[in-house]
Amino acid sequence: MPIIHQQISALRADLQLYRGSKSDHPSDKSEGRHRIALVPTMGNLHDGHLELVRIAKQQADIVVVSIFVNPTQFGEGEDLDSYPRTLDKDVEKLATVGADYVFAPSTEEMYPVLPPPTAVIAGAIADQLCGRSRPGHFDGMGIVVSKLFNIVQPDVAVFGQKDYQQLAIIKQLVRDLSYPIEIIEAPIIRAEDGLALSSRNQYLSKAERQIAPVLHQELQRLAQQLQSSQLHSQQVAALDVLLTDTHKRITEAGFVIDYLEVKTEQLTPVVTTENFNKEKPNLIVLVAAQLGRARLLDNQLVTVS
Ligand code: PAF
Repeated sequence: MPIIHQQISALRADLQLYRGSKSDHPSDKSEGRHRIALVPTMGNLHDGHLELVRIAKQQADIVVVSIFVNPTQFGEGEDLDSYPRTLDKDVEKLATVGADYVFAPSTEEMYPVLPPPTAVIAGAIADQLCGRSRPGHFDGMGIVVSKLFNIVQPDVAVFGQKDYQQLAIIKQLVRDLSYPIEIIEAPIIRAEDGLALSSRNQYLSKAERQIAPVLHQELQRLAQQLQSSQLHSQQVAALDVLLTDTHKRITEAGFVIDYLEVKTEQLTPVVTTENFNKEKPNLIVLVAAQLGRARLLDNQLVTVS
């Protein structure tokens, strides 16, 4: 079973034992120096999370999984209070994939003052997609991830590609704040029918769960159309037609779409510039849609050759 810590000081004291004391020089890979991986989560773990832990195990000697429902990334009227808290079950699941430590702090341990007066501002990249309907969400996510990085001081941290915008913001955070941490991106884990695994899928009724895979099917369809449509500056109007058609199909299935957009892999807009034609960046189709009580996210990369 993983060792569970609720206190920052207790986790730090344990992890210090693995960092080794032979030399402080970062190139010292001698015995006694272990690689530490962090997998940040909000708990209510599913196979997607367990896959992140498996990936972390391949990258490091010691895997720390944090379980913390972070209040600063929830907006007013969102599901902070009802977000499922299932620590005992989570720990049992983590034991099956060999996680070494679970860090499950209280809100007071993480935030002596709430809201914290010190801020992380995610910037322009957060003003689009999920950030438009969840203002402040990525700033709140940024501060908690930043704190977890400082508490655990991992060599690597693993995040899922399902939350594509979150991942892009974390890469920006690591770059801008000079964290010496390698970010590993884990592919989306899907149910057999294609639905991307998410803790929020459990908000779906039986009937909604039947409908939910439509989101992935429609993204795949759109991605295939984009791949074969030789998108170039004269054809960006055609992109709008494809998007409108996909929007219609998803809405008709019963979803209320928050956004359905095509961006470059770096989340910049697809524009009709010569640059776009020359560089042919890979594209990504991203969607967020409400189905009953569940807000579902998905995305699909499109390799443009
Ligand atoms: O993706 C999540 O579960 C959360 O946003 C994270 C990264 C654990 C921060 O609270």
